[in-house]
Amino acid sequence: MPHSFHQAVARDFEAVNQLILGQIHSDVGLVEDIGQYLIEAGGKRLRPLLVLLVSNALQYQGDKHHDLAAIIEFIHSATLLHDDVVDMSDLRRGRLTANAKWGNAPSVLVGDFLYSRAFQMMVAVGDMSIMKILSDTTNLISEGEVQQLINAKKPDISEKGYFEVIHKKTAILFEAACETAATLSGAEETLRRQLTAYGYHVGIAFQLIDDALDYTGNTEELGKNVGDDLAEGKPTLPLIYAMSNSSEEQSAMIADSIRNGDKSQLSQIINIIRDSGALDYTLNLAKEHAMSAIKTLDALPDSTYKQAMIDLAEFSISRSN
Ligand code: IPE
Ligand code: IPE
Ligand code: MG
Ligand code: MG
Repeated sequence: MPHSFHQAVARDFEAVNQLILGQIHSDVGLVEDIGQYLIEAGGKRLRPLLVLLVSNALQYQGDKHHDLAAIIEFIHSATLLHDDVVDMSDLRRGRLTANAKWGNAPSVLVGDFLYSRAFQMMVAVGDMSIMKILSDTTNLISEGEVQQLINAKKPDISEKGYFEVIHKKTAILFEAACETAATLSGAEETLRRQLTAYGYHVGIAFQLIDDALDYTGNTEELGKNVGDDLAEGKPTLPLIYAMSNSSEEQSAMIADSIRNGDKSQLSQIINIIRDSGALDYTLNLAKEHAMSAIKTLDALPDSTYKQAMIDLAEFSISRSN
């Protein structure tokens, strides 16, 4: 594993992976097949890594941080199963999505299985304040995905509306990873808030880059198809900015593509995104959030874990997958 944020918690990470694999078990073969298919494909596992890094940075003594990390990866995996159905995506982690391979119905149902398995595991952790954070988080993610659905095919969504969606659908789970780990570790309130803010900024930076990569990325490296957002008519920041910073004609073309969920003009739109400065704008905002994330870590004493959290924040904006 090349990144320092893996290396710093390599042993814990291995324990979490074992726990994840052990907990996918179901007596119903299809449930286990689909769960395993998605989980075995890997993924970056950034959210469980955050749990481990925060717990270690706060010198947590115990092993519930492993359960917590696995729980958060299960919640994330459930959202991916559902998200790929909603977005009609057919590539994830370099493989066919579960919906492309088995269909929408099994994907939705196994997503529910993973959500509820996460909640069973939370009960085993037995901390009501962690339960509250994670149930609120799961609820907000669902709301964010519904808001995004409502916004789809609407070219006049504001930047503010966009940020509300990415906060709820993505950043909130990064926040929860940090906040629950801080809670588990008994951090005092100010520090817990700062670590939650770190998660927020990393999460926003992460989704800004995700939305840029949907236009500029490479399918092979990403393991998912570029252009899916346009095909879904998602008014993401690169398009929102490009529409108000290009010619009337260009802006109308983007608006039409959003309205129709039409990616046939993808290559022209990529050029407009670059020429209008929309790409720089999106990347700069992501950079600012990553820097804010790093700034909140001033409160933590220096350690390899803190350094790894700095590296993770930097990775969230330099990533190509
Ligand atoms: C994908 O998240 C969903 C988004 C919030 C953009 P990741 O890019 O962390 O997915 P994996 O787990 O590494 O596949
Ligand atoms: C992330 O949004 C949605 C989730 C929180 C699951 P995207 O729709 O941009 O994620 P990808 O690009 O499909 O991974
Ligand atoms: Mg998607
Ligand atoms: Mg995306």
